[in-house]
Amino acid sequence: MCGIIGCVGRGEQTLQTLVHGLEKLEYRGYDSAGVGLGSERLSVSKTAGEIDALSQKLSEQNLSGTVGIGHTRWSTHGPPTDANAHPHQGCTGRVAVVHNGIIENYQELREELTARGHSFSSDTDTEVVPHLIEEALEEGAEPEAAFRSAISQIEGSYAIGALIEGVEALFAARNDSPLVIGIGLTPDGDQDASLRDGPFFIASDVPAFRDFTANVVYLDDGEFARLDGGVHITDRNGTPVEKSIETIEWDAEETGKSGYDHYMLKEIHEQPRALRQCLSGRIDELGGNVDIGAVGELSPTGVQFVACGTSYHAALYGAQLFRQAGVPAQAFLASEYASSPPPVGNDLIVGITQSGETADTLSALREAANRGAETLAVTNTVGSTAARECDHTLYIRSGPEIGVAATKTFAGQLAALNLFSLATAEGSTARREVVPSLRDLAGDIQHILDDSQARAVADAYADSDAYFFIGRRYQFPVALEGALKLKEISYEHAEGFAAGELKHGPLALVTANTPVFATVIGDGEVAQKTVGNIKEVEARDAPVVAVTDGKSDAGMYADHVLEVPETHPRAAALLANVQLQLVAYHIANDLGRPIDKPRNLAKSVTVE
Ligand code: AGP
Repeated sequence: MCGIIGCVGRGEQTLQTLVHGLEKLEYRGYDSAGVGLGSERLSVSKTAGEIDALSQKLSEQNLSGTVGIGHTRWSTHGPPTDANAHPHQGCTGRVAVVHNGIIENYQELREELTARGHSFSSDTDTEVVPHLIEEALEEGAEPEAAFRSAISQIEGSYAIGALIEGVEALFAARNDSPLVIGIGLTPDGDQDASLRDGPFFIASDVPAFRDFTANVVYLDDGEFARLDGGVHITDRNGTPVEKSIETIEWDAEETGKSGYDHYMLKEIHEQPRALRQCLSGRIDELGGNVDIGAVGELSPTGVQFVACGTSYHAALYGAQLFRQAGVPAQAFLASEYASSPPPVGNDLIVGITQSGETADTLSALREAANRGAETLAVTNTVGSTAARECDHTLYIRSGPEIGVAATKTFAGQLAALNLFSLATAEGSTARREVVPSLRDLAGDIQHILDDSQARAVADAYADSDAYFFIGRRYQFPVALEGALKLKEISYEHAEGFAAGELKHGPLALVTANTPVFATVIGDGEVAQKTVGNIKEVEARDAPVVAVTDGKSDAGMYADHVLEVPETHPRAAALLANVQLQLVAYHIANDLGRPIDKPRNLAKSVTVE
């Protein structure tokens, strides 16, 4: 989704800081980019395409200014063209605006503005904002009042940054769309001094300015900020709001590639460390105790999970854990939840979202909260909207994830859901059985990363017609996730199925050129049934890749085997998933796809 960066107090480094911030936001997905620089004179440069294209354009121009805004746009209203790229300006060019979100009443505002003589140069909803600011300025409003007047007229979701010619300040507002303020450090690290002097930043996400500061303030819905020689935050009525400054705990290097070709590969390899962080201090060595703080004190009598994409697969897994413990639990696609809301009763509503900003998930959580339900966010992002709006938060502690494809955060979600169910719904027997396998996860995954044959498998099948993934029970969400990962980064047709469903339709798609990845763990009834499904596809000449711990005879019927260490079936889901992540990565790499920034996709999906 769109990315915003803005800064003041960086002097001659302003333009460079903006472009750097945009590069750091590339992971969010975008199709055009632009910057605006201000103070005495205001100038804008923007273009369809990638940041390289913007940099090329900037090298041919002479933009300067000491306060600025930048934007990466992910098209919603209008195609990715130069004209639709942000920043947007009004008729006079005195105002420049960047926006993330959707202005729902833009059509009527646009008609009213047009009737009053304004002419528009883009198809976007955003462009009404600079025209509204301009109009208020022309009516004699002071810059901040003009900005507030414009924002008071728009409805919908927005994170907005604005510049006004002749003003050494950055104006910002948020509603239902993330916006964070960075408080720069002075060279001697004096926070009080930096609060007076800056530099100050606004951004959709912390990586945009993490190289300059770890001190942040999260804007809440309905709040405004003016950044100049200080940071001034006010509510809708203009009343100053006291905010606490929080410190980001991860380093700027964590948002680099550390020598890997892609963020996705780096993040796959970071899973052992991410899981250690997730579990640290939360399980004891002997496996008897799980401590997740106040969240562990909950005792849900029913659980409804709401989530999207990969997080929905984690939700399917989490619902199984609770049902297994005798607690009724269901996973819902967040985008469908509000249109057919189930009774909430006394159920706990759990939103699983690595970003904490997914609009569909937030909307489902709000829908449930409005009906009186208690809510929990399972998220990776401290200070995110989900974390702030829910009654409780369980952090997965995976560290920053930049690749659009979720990898280490899926592992973190599954691990955290195990902790959650063990702490709130399961007894000591389950804890003694499962906790040791959680403790071994990091080592087991490292073993897979060191020895995986996934690359050879990928090379063997990179030109197939389609790819199918099957699994039962805990391996069913893994099958769905394996297919999602492959399709989103390789653009190949991939589908995941509950293994037992194959014969009810999908089997008609199976040919000698459609490899089937089957995850088989253990040697019990569930495993044997999946082995039966492997035989069904083998009889139709499909190549089979078994992802297995070797306890069943699945390997005998497979063309290739991807091994996982023996462990509890719940933990084995995370291990099998690592093999499938690697297969997806290497197929996409063989096909030369832009793995970290797949076409049409965004890391943080902030529109419904
Ligand atoms: C995962 O690889 C996808 N990029 C996507 O499905 C993602 O999981 C989904 O958009 C939900 O995101 P969230 O976890 O931030 O809510």
